[in-house]
Order: sequence, then structure tokens, then C-alpha cells
Amino acid sequence: MKIRSALIVITSAFMLTAGAAVPATAGHSPHTLRALAKKTGVRIGSAVDADALAADRDYRRLLNRQFNHVTAENAKKWALVEPERGVFDWSGADAIVRNAKRNGQQIRGHTLLWHNQLPEWLTEGEPNFTTAELRSILRKHVFDVAGRYRGQIRAWDVVNEVVEDGGGFRNTLWFRRLGEGYIADMFRWAHQADPHAKLYINDYNLEWDTAKVQTTFEIVTDLLAAGVPIHGVGFQGHLGIQFDYPTAFPEHMKRFTDLGLEVAVTEADVRMVLPVTAEKEATQATYYQNLLRTCLENRKCTEFTTWGYTDRYQWVPGFFEGEGSAALFDEDLVPKPAYFALLALGRKK
Ligand code: G3I
Repeated sequence: MKIRSALIVITSAFMLTAGAAVPATAGHSPHTLRALAKKTGVRIGSAVDADALAADRDYRRLLNRQFNHVTAENAKKWALVEPERGVFDWSGADAIVRNAKRNGQQIRGHTLLWHNQLPEWLTEGEPNFTTAELRSILRKHVFDVAGRYRGQIRAWDVVNEVVEDGGGFRNTLWFRRLGEGYIADMFRWAHQADPHAKLYINDYNLEWDTAKVQTTFEIVTDLLAAGVPIHGVGFQGHLGIQFDYPTAFPEHMKRFTDLGLEVAVTEADVRMVLPVTAEKEATQATYYQNLLRTCLENRKCTEFTTWGYTDRYQWVPGFFEGEGSAALFDEDLVPKPAYFALLALGRKK
């Protein structure tokens, strides 16, 4: 409890000096994550909740003060941008891009293909579409979305979670109807739609020794050998302190960067079984710090993005009953030990 109380004092000072955001005990650490990003050359980002961005000024301010990279958490997903066939809603996605430009933030596009958050017209209509129709619907989607933001997105998650935990191709409508060739098609289309963007395959559990890592490695190797424009691998980095830390993560990252690819930590968060205790927060801080350290120590790691920077708007409680507190800042936007543990990585030796 002592640590927590001390942090409350420190973080009160932090909140009071919100403009400059200089915590009292920072020492030689950078004063914000943006400053750390600038110092290390690794972009530091957050997923952005479009509704919160529009409605919550404190959320917006802290986002813009702390991060130099953003990912729309949901706003670019198919169900949101094309809720009815041919009827588009770009409001959330556009607002995030506008805010990013105003605040000097680069953008990760998420995501051109997933098996979740697909519009009903697509999932319900799918049995009636021929394979050729489905392929052309998917191609059009890539040009609709990547084309709209052409030149404005640093990196796209072109395909998301296409491998099962057990190591097979994920059994999605894309795989069932189009076969494994859809992955190469996606990268080729994305490159045509936005030749400037770095194109990524993105997945969870790639930090661990799983069959999924090997399959992803084989997919990537095959794509490169076939001259398909793939540039990076995204390690989502969804961790929980009730599980061990994936100590093999640096080797996994290196396996991919040895292929000449860039990599990023794209969705970092560290959840815990509630209630929160000082001990759990200390463990959480080491997990976050290890994730960022892995990125900092690999010269081809370009970005470290957290999946929602505050517990005020965070996906974990809605998906894992009894779990939460996964973000760097709590619901009151007070930074946790994990935040200071990240800043400490930029401390002068
Ligand atoms: O937009 C509707 C709203 O109209 C409705 O009132 C409300 C009621 O539940 O739901 C809203 O949609 C929710 C949506 O987030 C937007 O907030 C969905 O129910 C909810 O399922 C959805 O969750 C998102 C989840 O992906 C979907 O599987 C999370 O916010 C988002 O953080 C999460 O992100 C994924 C990444 O894209 C891929 N990697 C894993 C990561 C975590 O699951």
C-alpha cells in the first residue's frame, strides 16, 4: 500500500501539472511517453476509442500529450465503415485521422481483414454469394478503406488473426470460401490501394512458444518467396499477470526480423484478476516494461502500441469476467506503476 500511496502523491502532482506532465520522481526519465518515443526512436501508441475521442476532453488531451502513434480500436473495421452494403460511415475513422494529423501522430490502420466485426449483410448474405462475388467484395473493401486513407496510414494490419492457436489456418469464411491464397491477395490489393503503407500480418499469442508462431513464420516466408508485398509482423501483446511472462518473446521477434521484416507490438495490455493490489500492479509494471524493452532492443521494432491507454475505456472487463485494470492509466486517468516503468526505460544510465 505504501507504494500506491506514494504514487498517488506523485500522480497528483502529475495531474496538476497536466500541461507539462512532469512527475516529481522522474529523475532523468523522459517526462512523457511521447518524449520517450522521441528519445528512443520507437513510436509509442494507443488504440483510440472514437466515441471517447469525441466526447471526453480529458481522454483526448492525455492521448495527444502522451502518444505519437494511434490505432482506431474499432472505427476502421468493416462492420463500422459499411454497416449496410454500399452505405458507408467514416465518421469515427475520419475523426481519429483528423485528430492524429492535428497532433503529429502517425497511424496504424486496423484492420482490412478479420473474422470478427463483419457486417451482417456480409455474414448473412455469404451463402448466397458465389466465390467470385465474395472475392470481389473483399477486394472492393480493401480499395474502399485503404484507398480512402491512401498516403495517410503508416502501417496497415492487412490480415488479423488468420492462424488458429493450434497452428492451422483459421477456419473463417475467407479460408473456407477463398482458400489460403486470400492472404497473398490481401497484401497485393492493399499495396495497390496504398503503396506508401507498410503492410503487416497481425496476431495474438505470437509472443509464446505456440504452433501459431511456426505457422505464421511459414506463411510469411512463403509470401516473401513469392514476392508478395508484406513488410511487417504485429505482435499484439495481450498478456495477463495470472499467466507466466512469455520470456521467449525476444527470440520470436528476432526470428521474423532476421527475415528482413519490421515488427511492432500492436495491442499491448496486461490484465489481472480483480481486485487490484499494489503487488499485482508491480507485476503488471514488469510485464509492460519487458514488452517495451523487447521492442527497444530489436532495431527493427518500429512501434509499441497499447490497446487502450486507460481503464476508463478498455475492452478487457467486457470480455473476461472478473478481470480488468489492464491499461497504463486507471479510470481516473491516473498513471499506474506500469507507466513509470515504461518511462524508466528512457532513463540516462
Ligand atoms: O458499437 C456497438 C454499440 O452500438 C452497442 O451499443 C454496444 C453494446 O454492446 O456494442 C458496441 O459494439 C462493441 C464494439 O466493441 C464497439 O465498442 C461490441 O459489442 C464489442 O464486442 C466490441 O469489442 C471490440 C472487440 O475487438 C471485438 O471483438 C473491442 O472494443 C476491441 O478492443 C477488440 O479489439 C481486438 C482487436 O481488434 C484485435 N485483437 C484483439 C482485440 C481485443 O479483443
